[in-house]
Amino acid sequence: METRKELYRGKAKTVYATDDPLRLVMHYRDDVSAFDGVKLARLDGKGETNNRINAWVMERLTEAGIRSHFIRMLNERESLVRAMKMVPVECVVRNVCAGSMAKRYGIEEGRRLPEPLFEFFLKSDALHDPLVNDDHIRILGWASAADIARMRELSYRVNDVLKPMFAGAGIDLVDYKLEFGHPLDEPGGDLVLGDEFTPDGCRLWDAKTGEKLDKDRFRRDLGEVIEHYREVARRLGVPL
Ligand code: TMP
Ligand code: ASP
Repeated sequence: METRKELYRGKAKTVYATDDPLRLVMHYRDDVSAFDGVKLARLDGKGETNNRINAWVMERLTEAGIRSHFIRMLNERESLVRAMKMVPVECVVRNVCAGSMAKRYGIEEGRRLPEPLFEFFLKSDALHDPLVNDDHIRILGWASAADIARMRELSYRVNDVLKPMFAGAGIDLVDYKLEFGHPLDEPGGDLVLGDEFTPDGCRLWDAKTGEKLDKDRFRRDLGEVIEHYREVARRLGVPL
């Protein structure tokens, strides 16, 4: 498929229009960003690795009955997706306390939560993605009450599929971030998972040693970032 105009350049991906207004191309670059664009770098091979991990995870979710915008991989760095109107919030599910939650409430990282915990964040680099609640989202008009409930429900369903899948690969799914939208050709229809699922947007710890296998390696200068992303792919059986 011939790609055309650049529609949107995010911190790690670029979205291009295609000759079909209902289809977009997601191009995974080698750029990596942390702390909402404050820390930036280029990591050779990240785009290709993440494109492949994302495709594999989205296919597993589709098999489990969770719809996503992912259609198919086009080449090493690009995937074809459905064009969507995105909800401007991020949905985070946590199985283990880490990152901003540990910091916000003064809890040690690594405390296992008795049940999965859900949080909404407003998608805004300028505001550093503040935590928001259902009322903020509904009353300020970012999403309807029905969509809020559905994002929470679908986010938990993703956990039901992915947590055991990672566990089978010897990996603890600590937390992850999802984004949802409405496909342009289904206005008023059900929400569909968008964006990506890669080690850039989740925390993955080795189940035995606790070694970090995700973007915290970059955030915390632990080194060998891509080597660990590739280890995740290898354990899951994602072809690289
Ligand atoms: P946090 O601990 O920084 O709130 O992040 C929780 C999880 O969600 C972590 O795996 C990183 C991911 N995340 C993103 O990928 N992008 C974001 O903008 C946010 C807020 C979280
Ligand atoms: N995804 C955000 C960023 O690009 C936040 C983070 O990962 O730390 O900066």
